Amino acid sequence: MSSISGLVEDEISSFFESSPPLKNKEEVVAKLNQFIELNSSRQDGFNICLTGEKRRIVCVTSGGTTVPLEQRCVRYIDNFSSGNRGAASTENFVKAGYAVIFLYRRGTCQPYCRSLPDDPFLECFEFPDAKNIRVRESHSEAVKMAVMDQQAAVGEGRLLKLPFSTIYEYLQMLREMATALKDVGPCSMFYLAAAVSDFYVPWNSMTEHKIQSGSGPLDIRLAQVPKMISILRSNWAPKAFCVSFKLETDSKILIEKATKALQKYKVHAVVANELSTRKEEVVVVSSSGNVVVRRDSDKPESIVEDNLIRLIVDRHSTYIKENHT
Ligand code: PMT
Repeated sequence: MSSISGLVEDEISSFFESSPPLKNKEEVVAKLNQFIELNSSRQDGFNICLTGEKRRIVCVTSGGTTVPLEQRCVRYIDNFSSGNRGAASTENFVKAGYAVIFLYRRGTCQPYCRSLPDDPFLECFEFPDAKNIRVRESHSEAVKMAVMDQQAAVGEGRLLKLPFSTIYEYLQMLREMATALKDVGPCSMFYLAAAVSDFYVPWNSMTEHKIQSGSGPLDIRLAQVPKMISILRSNWAPKAFCVSFKLETDSKILIEKATKALQKYKVHAVVANELSTRKEEVVVVSSSGNVVVRRDSDKPESIVEDNLIRLIVDRHSTYIKENHT
């Protein structure tokens, strides 16, 4: 378990103290507690959590966080992420028997929707006459699978979807989630695929109204967002299995940066990916060495997350066995 310095702890406290409060906090906490309670008392054959009669629970974060520039936000800075990784990983975790809390950026890719066209609402349907609507034959299989798989996952209490937009919402929700999962211990996992802002405008130094363009070029000073992985590991959920991600555009520095993150934040694995090849391969960096995980290129339907989640689930099983009390 890592420990954090008083300075970092102060930065984290001041980030949360100055954040606008989460609007629907009570509703989020109630949903989380209900979901965790339901899954903590479920048995699932092969996938039973090794420490007891619990289903494993993973929190998958997905999509990029926004940084508002105005309190009544018109403009914001964004972090790139389509949400594909998080959505595809969620499907694979559900398939592996996990209960998934999917913390996602509004408007990004959703689980079970990969085979649908970009604008499913407009492209999948047709009107045989003025009173009827039906799914086009060409999309019927994809729509059927998406609706059935999503409804099964939600209906069986295996999938809870919680949306965020801003860095403030994301980090407050992550904290609520970690706190709620604390007692699940080694059976819980954090899989932090969201692209999280490193810089932000503190709420109390942000202008309330739309910034006016008439005043000429804009100078903004961005403060650094404290790395929340450190407090997640040391205080919020120290017994959870934790997988973080490292995204770079320069492949020459990727593995070095991922290795440093592994050591600094004492996470159990860092998934290193380069922007342009992220759908083909990733490298899982951990204390037991680096493993390259690729999509099966001979199978057109294969995605890198199929093999990645298999490996992560294996590592989680070993972790649970080692931390069995
Ligand atoms: O969504 P796709 O288009 O499919 O793309 C997937 C992806 C490339 C976005 C994904 O695979 C990925 O790499 N996500 C993490 C991107 C990222 O934020 O990397 P980073 O190097 O900035 O941060 C590393 C880790 O620190 C992250 O796990 C993040 O959760 C964490 N972090 C970041 C900032 C911060 N203030 N606190 C944090 O804890």
